[in-house]
Amino acid sequence: MRAQLERDFERFKRELPRDFPDHVRDTYRIDLSARYLGHTIPHPIGKGSGQLSLNLEQLETDRAAGLAFVVLKTVIAEDAAGARAMAAWAIHETRMKVERRRSSAGREGWTVTWKGRGWDRSFGDYLALVRAAGDLTRSGEMLAVPSVKYHLPRLNEAFRADEYRHTTGRLASAWGEDPLLLEKDFSPTLAGDSLADEREQILRWLREVPRQIRGGTTHPVRLALKLMNARFDDAFQQQMLEAAASADALVVFNRLWDDQTLVAYGGYDLSDRNLRVLAGRRPGLALGSLVASGNVCSGRILLEYARLGCQSAQLHTFLQLPLSEYPASAGSRTQRALHALLFHPEDGLIAGMIDLEAQGRLERREGELRFLDLKQIDGR
Ligand SMILES: Cc1cc2nc3c(=O)[nH]c(=O)nc-3n(C[C@H](O)[C@H](O)[C@H](O)COP(=O)(O)O)c2cc1C
Repeated sequence: MRAQLERDFERFKRELPRDFPDHVRDTYRIDLSARYLGHTIPHPIGKGSGQLSLNLEQLETDRAAGLAFVVLKTVIAEDAAGARAMAAWAIHETRMKVERRRSSAGREGWTVTWKGRGWDRSFGDYLALVRAAGDLTRSGEMLAVPSVKYHLPRLNEAFRADEYRHTTGRLASAWGEDPLLLEKDFSPTLAGDSLADEREQILRWLREVPRQIRGGTTHPVRLALKLMNARFDDAFQQQMLEAAASADALVVFNRLWDDQTLVAYGGYDLSDRNLRVLAGRRPGLALGSLVASGNVCSGRILLEYARLGCQSAQLHTFLQLPLSEYPASAGSRTQRALHALLFHPEDGLIAGMIDLEAQGRLERREGELRFLDLKQIDGR
Protein backbone atom coordinates (compact mmCIF):
# COMPACT_ATOMS: atom_id res chain seq x y z
CA MET A 1 0.00 0.00 0.00
CA ARG A 2 2.88 2.36 0.72
CA ALA A 3 4.35 1.85 -2.76
CA GLN A 4 0.91 2.50 -4.23
CA LEU A 5 0.64 5.68 -2.14
CA GLU A 6 3.98 6.94 -3.48
CA ARG A 7 2.74 6.27 -7.01
CA ASP A 8 -0.59 8.03 -6.47
CA PHE A 9 1.13 10.97 -4.82
CA GLU A 10 3.37 11.39 -7.88
CA ARG A 11 0.75 10.95 -10.57
CA PHE A 12 -1.91 13.09 -8.86
CA LYS A 13 0.56 15.98 -8.70
CA ARG A 14 -0.55 16.75 -12.25
CA GLU A 15 -4.27 16.32 -11.62
CA LEU A 16 -6.33 15.04 -8.74
CA PRO A 17 -9.36 13.06 -10.02
CA ARG A 18 -12.62 14.46 -8.68
CA ASP A 19 -13.75 11.00 -7.56
CA PHE A 20 -10.71 10.52 -5.32
CA PRO A 21 -12.82 9.19 -2.38
CA ASP A 22 -13.88 6.23 -4.58
CA HIS A 23 -10.30 5.69 -5.65
CA VAL A 24 -9.15 5.64 -2.01
CA ARG A 25 -11.85 3.15 -1.12
CA ASP A 26 -11.05 0.83 -4.03
CA THR A 27 -7.28 1.04 -3.73
CA TYR A 28 -6.63 1.22 0.03
CA ARG A 29 -9.93 -0.06 1.38
CA ILE A 30 -10.18 3.19 3.35
CA ASP A 31 -13.59 4.79 3.77
CA LEU A 32 -13.10 8.56 4.07
CA SER A 33 -16.81 9.27 4.74
CA ALA A 34 -17.29 12.06 7.25
CA ARG A 35 -20.10 14.16 8.77
CA TYR A 36 -21.00 17.84 8.71
CA LEU A 37 -24.24 19.22 10.17
CA GLY A 38 -26.14 15.96 9.89
CA HIS A 39 -24.97 15.20 6.33
CA THR A 40 -22.71 12.34 5.36
CA ILE A 41 -19.99 13.72 3.11
CA PRO A 42 -17.51 11.73 0.96
CA HIS A 43 -14.44 12.93 2.89
CA PRO A 44 -13.78 15.24 5.82
CA ILE A 45 -12.21 18.30 4.17
CA GLY A 46 -14.14 21.56 3.76
CA LYS A 47 -13.48 25.28 3.62
CA GLY A 48 -14.02 27.61 6.58
CA SER A 49 -15.87 30.89 6.24
CA GLY A 50 -13.77 33.81 5.01
CA GLN A 51 -12.32 35.59 2.01
CA LEU A 52 -12.18 32.37 -0.01
CA SER A 53 -15.97 31.93 -0.16
CA LEU A 54 -17.33 35.27 -1.33
CA ASN A 55 -18.66 34.47 -4.79
CA LEU A 56 -19.92 31.90 -7.29
CA GLU A 57 -16.55 31.50 -9.03
CA GLN A 58 -14.92 30.39 -5.80
CA LEU A 59 -17.77 27.95 -5.13
CA GLU A 60 -17.46 26.51 -8.63
CA THR A 61 -13.70 25.98 -8.31
CA ASP A 62 -14.24 24.14 -5.02
CA ARG A 63 -17.04 22.02 -6.45
CA ALA A 64 -14.89 21.07 -9.41
CA ALA A 65 -11.99 20.17 -7.10
CA GLY A 66 -14.23 17.89 -5.03
CA LEU A 67 -14.21 19.75 -1.71
CA ALA A 68 -16.81 18.27 0.65
CA PHE A 69 -18.30 21.53 1.94
CA VAL A 70 -17.82 25.29 1.93
CA VAL A 71 -18.97 27.81 4.52
CA LEU A 72 -19.80 31.18 2.97
CA LYS A 73 -18.32 34.41 4.31
CA THR A 74 -20.05 35.59 7.51
CA VAL A 75 -22.84 38.10 6.94
CA ILE A 76 -23.86 40.62 9.61
CA ALA A 77 -27.50 40.14 10.69
CA GLU A 78 -30.04 42.91 10.16
CA ASP A 79 -33.67 43.61 11.09
CA ALA A 80 -36.50 44.47 8.67
CA ALA A 81 -35.47 48.15 8.68
CA GLY A 82 -31.89 47.23 7.78
CA ALA A 83 -30.48 48.06 11.27
CA ARG A 84 -27.49 45.95 12.35
CA ALA A 85 -26.46 45.68 16.01
CA MET A 86 -23.08 44.29 14.93
CA ALA A 87 -22.54 46.84 12.14
CA ALA A 88 -18.99 47.43 13.36
CA TRP A 89 -18.17 44.01 11.87
CA ALA A 90 -19.22 44.94 8.34
CA ILE A 91 -16.09 46.85 7.36
CA HIS A 92 -14.40 46.75 3.96
CA GLU A 93 -10.78 45.60 3.78
CA THR A 94 -9.13 43.77 0.93
CA ARG A 95 -5.44 43.45 1.81
CA MET A 96 -4.40 40.08 3.24
CA LYS A 97 -0.89 38.92 4.02
CA VAL A 98 0.00 35.23 4.09
CA GLU A 99 2.99 34.97 6.43
CA ARG A 100 5.07 32.44 8.28
CA ARG A 101 4.51 32.33 12.01
CA ARG A 102 6.62 30.57 14.63
CA SER A 103 4.60 29.19 17.56
CA SER A 104 5.58 29.70 21.18
CA ALA A 105 6.86 26.09 21.14
CA GLY A 106 9.09 27.01 18.18
CA ARG A 107 7.22 25.33 15.33
CA GLU A 108 7.13 27.13 12.01
CA GLY A 109 3.66 27.46 10.45
CA TRP A 110 1.51 29.88 8.46
CA THR A 111 -0.98 32.58 9.30
CA VAL A 112 -3.04 35.10 7.33
CA THR A 113 -2.91 38.65 8.64
CA TRP A 114 -5.96 40.71 7.81
CA LYS A 115 -7.78 43.61 9.45
CA GLY A 116 -11.19 43.02 7.87
CA ARG A 117 -14.25 41.44 9.44
CA GLY A 118 -17.64 40.36 7.97
CA TRP A 119 -19.45 40.52 4.58
CA ASP A 120 -19.20 44.12 3.36
CA ARG A 121 -21.75 44.11 0.55
CA SER A 122 -25.58 44.26 0.82
CA PHE A 123 -27.71 41.59 2.48
CA GLY A 124 -29.50 41.23 -0.88
CA ASP A 125 -26.20 40.26 -2.52
CA TYR A 126 -25.63 37.71 0.20
CA LEU A 127 -29.09 36.21 -0.31
CA ALA A 128 -28.29 35.72 -4.01
CA LEU A 129 -25.23 33.70 -2.99
CA VAL A 130 -27.30 31.70 -0.49
CA ARG A 131 -29.78 30.81 -3.26
CA ALA A 132 -26.93 29.33 -5.29
CA ALA A 133 -25.58 27.62 -2.16
CA GLY A 134 -28.95 25.94 -1.51
CA ASP A 135 -29.09 24.67 -5.12
CA LEU A 136 -25.54 23.38 -4.95
CA THR A 137 -26.22 21.60 -1.66
CA ARG A 138 -29.35 19.95 -3.12
CA SER A 139 -27.39 18.82 -6.18
CA GLY A 140 -25.43 16.56 -3.81
CA GLU A 141 -22.09 17.69 -5.22
CA MET A 142 -20.96 19.89 -2.34
CA LEU A 143 -22.57 21.41 0.76
CA ALA A 144 -22.47 25.22 0.76
CA VAL A 145 -23.57 26.84 3.98
CA PRO A 146 -24.27 30.44 5.08
CA SER A 147 -22.68 31.95 8.18
CA VAL A 148 -24.06 34.81 10.30
CA LYS A 149 -22.99 37.12 13.06
CA TYR A 150 -26.13 38.10 15.03
CA HIS A 151 -26.65 40.58 17.85
CA LEU A 152 -24.91 39.61 21.08
CA PRO A 153 -26.25 41.52 24.09
CA ARG A 154 -24.55 42.55 27.31
CA LEU A 155 -25.77 40.72 30.41
CA ASN A 156 -28.38 43.30 31.32
CA GLU A 157 -29.73 43.57 27.76
CA ALA A 158 -32.26 41.49 25.82
CA PHE A 159 -31.48 39.79 22.50
CA ARG A 160 -32.74 41.79 19.52
CA ALA A 161 -35.26 39.17 18.49
CA ASP A 162 -36.30 41.15 15.37
CA GLU A 163 -32.83 40.90 13.98
CA TYR A 164 -32.70 37.14 14.55
CA ARG A 165 -36.17 36.63 13.09
CA HIS A 166 -35.66 38.75 9.98
CA THR A 167 -32.21 37.44 9.09
CA THR A 168 -32.92 33.75 9.63
CA GLY A 169 -36.27 34.03 7.84
CA ARG A 170 -34.70 35.63 4.75
CA LEU A 171 -31.85 33.13 4.67
CA ALA A 172 -34.28 30.21 4.97
CA SER A 173 -36.45 31.49 2.08
CA ALA A 174 -33.40 32.01 -0.12
CA TRP A 175 -32.03 28.57 0.77
CA GLY A 176 -35.14 26.58 -0.24
CA GLU A 177 -37.21 23.80 1.26
CA ASP A 178 -34.72 21.52 2.99
CA PRO A 179 -33.56 22.19 6.54
CA LEU A 180 -31.36 25.29 6.53
CA LEU A 181 -27.72 24.55 7.33
CA LEU A 182 -26.28 27.49 9.22
CA GLU A 183 -23.16 28.53 11.10
CA LYS A 184 -23.16 31.23 13.76
CA ASP A 185 -19.75 32.83 14.00
CA PHE A 186 -18.13 33.95 17.25
CA SER A 187 -15.03 35.55 15.78
CA PRO A 188 -11.56 36.34 17.16
CA THR A 189 -12.28 40.05 16.71
CA LEU A 190 -15.25 39.51 19.01
CA ALA A 191 -12.95 37.72 21.48
CA GLY A 192 -10.75 40.83 21.38
CA ASP A 193 -13.70 43.22 21.88
CA SER A 194 -14.82 44.63 25.25
CA LEU A 195 -18.12 42.75 24.70
CA ALA A 196 -16.20 39.55 25.46
CA ASP A 197 -14.56 40.77 28.69
CA GLU A 198 -17.07 38.95 30.88
CA ARG A 199 -17.23 35.21 31.16
CA GLU A 200 -20.88 35.02 32.21
CA GLN A 201 -21.85 37.12 29.21
CA ILE A 202 -20.13 34.73 26.78
CA LEU A 203 -21.68 31.66 28.42
CA ARG A 204 -25.14 33.23 28.19
CA TRP A 205 -24.67 33.79 24.44
CA LEU A 206 -23.69 30.17 23.92
CA ARG A 207 -26.68 28.88 25.89
CA GLU A 208 -29.28 31.20 24.35
CA VAL A 209 -28.24 31.90 20.76
CA PRO A 210 -29.44 28.50 19.41
CA ARG A 211 -32.90 29.16 20.85
CA GLN A 212 -32.96 32.69 19.43
CA ILE A 213 -32.08 31.43 15.95
CA ARG A 214 -34.44 28.45 15.90
CA GLY A 215 -37.25 30.42 17.56
CA GLY A 216 -37.04 33.10 14.85
CA THR A 217 -38.31 30.85 12.05
CA THR A 218 -40.72 28.01 11.39
CA HIS A 219 -38.20 26.59 8.91
CA PRO A 220 -36.11 23.73 10.35
CA VAL A 221 -32.53 24.83 11.03
CA ARG A 222 -29.42 22.73 11.61
CA LEU A 223 -27.07 24.96 13.49
CA ALA A 224 -23.32 24.94 14.01
CA LEU A 225 -21.80 27.35 16.52
CA LYS A 226 -18.30 28.34 15.53
CA LEU A 227 -16.67 29.00 18.86
CA MET A 228 -14.03 31.63 19.39
CA ASN A 229 -10.89 31.23 21.43
CA ALA A 230 -11.81 33.53 24.33
CA ARG A 231 -9.04 35.42 26.12
CA PHE A 232 -9.35 33.18 29.16
CA ASP A 233 -7.76 29.88 30.19
CA ASP A 234 -8.35 26.35 28.90
CA ALA A 235 -10.81 25.61 31.71
CA PHE A 236 -13.05 28.45 30.52
CA GLN A 237 -12.76 27.21 26.93
CA GLN A 238 -14.11 23.87 28.18
CA GLN A 239 -16.95 25.66 29.96
CA MET A 240 -17.78 27.25 26.62
CA LEU A 241 -18.08 23.80 25.03
CA GLU A 242 -20.52 22.72 27.74
CA ALA A 243 -22.57 25.91 27.40
CA ALA A 244 -22.88 25.35 23.62
CA ALA A 245 -24.13 21.78 23.93
CA SER A 246 -27.57 22.51 22.42
CA ALA A 247 -26.12 23.28 18.95
CA ASP A 248 -26.22 20.52 16.32
CA ALA A 249 -22.51 20.99 15.67
CA LEU A 250 -19.58 22.89 17.15
CA VAL A 251 -16.72 24.26 15.08
CA VAL A 252 -13.65 24.17 17.32
CA PHE A 253 -12.12 26.79 17.47
CA ASN A 254 -11.68 30.05 15.53
CA ARG A 255 -8.34 31.88 15.55
CA LEU A 256 -6.43 33.35 18.47
CA TRP A 257 -6.45 37.07 19.22
CA ASP A 258 -3.18 38.97 19.60
CA ASP A 259 -3.75 41.76 22.15
CA GLN A 260 -0.52 43.52 21.15
CA THR A 261 -0.89 43.76 17.39
CA LEU A 262 -4.73 43.62 17.46
CA VAL A 263 -4.99 40.94 14.77
CA ALA A 264 -6.23 37.35 14.71
CA TYR A 265 -3.66 34.65 14.04
CA GLY A 266 -3.24 30.92 13.56
CA GLY A 267 -0.37 28.49 13.04
CA TYR A 268 0.72 25.87 15.57
CA ASP A 269 -0.21 27.99 18.61
CA LEU A 270 -3.79 27.66 17.39
CA SER A 271 -3.81 23.90 16.76
CA ASP A 272 -1.85 23.25 20.00
CA ARG A 273 -4.45 25.16 22.02
CA ASN A 274 -7.45 23.65 20.22
CA LEU A 275 -6.20 20.07 20.55
CA ARG A 276 -5.29 20.61 24.21
CA VAL A 277 -8.77 21.95 25.03
CA LEU A 278 -10.48 19.10 23.18
CA ALA A 279 -8.31 16.53 24.95
CA GLY A 280 -9.12 18.09 28.33
CA ARG A 281 -12.89 18.12 28.02
CA ARG A 282 -14.99 16.27 30.55
CA PRO A 283 -15.29 12.57 29.62
CA GLY A 284 -18.82 11.67 28.60
CA LEU A 285 -19.76 15.28 27.79
CA ALA A 286 -22.57 15.09 25.20
CA LEU A 287 -21.97 17.64 22.45
CA GLY A 288 -23.19 18.23 18.92
CA SER A 289 -20.87 16.78 16.30
CA LEU A 290 -17.44 18.41 16.29
CA VAL A 291 -15.88 20.10 13.26
CA ALA A 292 -12.16 20.90 13.42
CA SER A 293 -10.84 24.35 12.61
CA GLY A 294 -7.36 25.69 13.20
CA ASN A 295 -4.08 25.04 11.39
CA VAL A 296 -5.24 21.93 9.56
CA CYS A 297 -2.18 22.07 7.31
CA SER A 298 -1.46 18.33 6.96
CA GLY A 299 -3.24 15.02 7.10
CA ARG A 300 -1.44 14.37 10.40
CA ILE A 301 -2.99 17.41 12.08
CA LEU A 302 -6.38 16.45 10.69
CA LEU A 303 -5.86 12.99 12.17
CA GLU A 304 -5.19 14.48 15.61
CA TYR A 305 -8.44 16.43 15.53
CA ALA A 306 -10.30 13.32 14.28
CA ARG A 307 -8.91 11.17 17.10
CA LEU A 308 -10.36 13.71 19.54
CA GLY A 309 -13.82 13.37 18.02
CA CYS A 310 -13.94 15.79 15.06
CA GLN A 311 -16.00 14.34 12.22
CA SER A 312 -14.84 16.81 9.56
CA ALA A 313 -12.55 19.83 9.26
CA GLN A 314 -12.78 23.32 7.80
CA LEU A 315 -9.65 25.06 6.56
CA HIS A 316 -8.74 28.54 5.52
CA THR A 317 -4.99 29.22 5.71
CA PHE A 318 -3.90 25.98 4.01
CA LEU A 319 -6.10 26.87 1.03
CA GLN A 320 -4.27 30.17 0.62
CA LEU A 321 -0.53 29.35 0.63
CA PRO A 322 1.92 30.39 -2.09
CA LEU A 323 1.72 27.83 -4.91
CA SER A 324 5.33 26.79 -4.31
CA GLU A 325 4.30 25.36 -0.90
CA TYR A 326 2.14 22.60 -2.39
CA PRO A 327 3.75 19.45 -3.78
CA ALA A 328 1.34 19.39 -6.77
CA SER A 329 2.48 21.10 -9.95
CA ALA A 330 -0.94 21.87 -11.48
CA GLY A 331 -4.56 22.43 -10.50
CA SER A 332 -6.45 24.93 -8.35
CA ARG A 333 -5.20 25.66 -4.82
CA THR A 334 -8.09 23.56 -3.51
CA GLN A 335 -7.00 20.56 -5.61
CA ARG A 336 -3.38 20.98 -4.58
CA ALA A 337 -4.34 21.22 -0.91
CA LEU A 338 -6.52 18.09 -1.11
CA HIS A 339 -3.69 16.23 -2.85
CA ALA A 340 -1.20 17.06 -0.06
CA LEU A 341 -3.63 16.47 2.81
CA LEU A 342 -4.67 13.04 1.56
CA PHE A 343 -1.85 11.54 -0.48
CA HIS A 344 1.39 12.85 1.03
CA PRO A 345 3.37 9.65 1.71
CA GLU A 346 4.50 10.78 5.20
CA ASP A 347 2.17 13.53 6.38
CA GLY A 348 -1.02 12.64 4.54
CA LEU A 349 -4.24 11.27 6.02
CA ILE A 350 -3.98 7.92 4.19
CA ALA A 351 -0.40 7.39 5.40
CA GLY A 352 -1.48 8.26 8.94
CA MET A 353 -4.38 5.81 8.92
CA ILE A 354 -2.18 3.02 7.54
CA ASP A 355 0.35 3.73 10.34
CA LEU A 356 -2.37 3.53 13.00
CA GLU A 357 -3.45 0.19 11.59
CA ALA A 358 0.17 -1.08 11.69
CA GLN A 359 0.38 0.02 15.35
CA GLY A 360 -2.77 -1.95 16.12
CA ARG A 361 -4.70 1.21 17.09
CA LEU A 362 -7.16 1.30 14.20
CA GLU A 363 -8.93 -1.85 13.03
CA ARG A 364 -10.56 -2.71 9.77
CA ARG A 365 -14.30 -3.33 9.86
CA GLU A 366 -15.64 -5.45 7.02
CA GLY A 367 -12.20 -5.06 5.50
CA GLU A 368 -12.15 -1.25 5.67
CA LEU A 369 -10.40 1.41 7.71
CA ARG A 370 -12.87 4.20 8.42
CA PHE A 371 -12.16 7.87 9.01
CA LEU A 372 -15.12 8.07 11.39
CA ASP A 373 -13.64 5.28 13.53
CA LEU A 374 -10.65 7.46 14.38
CA LYS A 375 -12.63 9.11 17.16
CA GLN A 376 -12.60 5.86 19.11
CA ILE A 377 -8.83 6.10 19.59
CA ASP A 378 -8.75 9.08 21.97
CA GLY A 379 -12.53 9.46 22.31
CA ARG A 380 -13.96 11.04 25.42
C1 LIG B 1 -8.70 36.33 6.18
C2 LIG B 1 -9.62 35.49 7.02
C3 LIG B 1 -10.96 35.81 7.10
C4 LIG B 1 -11.83 35.03 7.88
N1 LIG B 1 -13.16 35.38 7.95
C5 LIG B 1 -14.00 34.60 8.67
C6 LIG B 1 -15.39 34.88 8.72
O1 LIG B 1 -15.89 35.82 8.11
N2 LIG B 1 -16.18 34.06 9.46
C7 LIG B 1 -15.69 32.98 10.14
O2 LIG B 1 -16.48 32.24 10.77
N3 LIG B 1 -14.38 32.68 10.11
C8 LIG B 1 -13.53 33.47 9.41
N4 LIG B 1 -12.20 33.14 9.37
C9 LIG B 1 -11.70 32.00 10.15
C10 LIG B 1 -11.47 30.77 9.29
O3 LIG B 1 -12.68 30.27 8.73
C11 LIG B 1 -10.85 29.64 10.13
O4 LIG B 1 -11.76 29.19 11.11
C12 LIG B 1 -9.58 30.08 10.84
O5 LIG B 1 -8.77 30.85 9.98
C13 LIG B 1 -8.78 28.88 11.37
O6 LIG B 1 -8.46 27.97 10.36
P1 LIG B 1 -7.05 28.00 9.56
O7 LIG B 1 -5.98 27.84 10.59
O8 LIG B 1 -7.17 26.83 8.63
O9 LIG B 1 -6.96 29.30 8.84
C14 LIG B 1 -11.32 33.92 8.59
C15 LIG B 1 -9.95 33.61 8.50
C16 LIG B 1 -9.11 34.37 7.73
C17 LIG B 1 -7.67 33.98 7.66
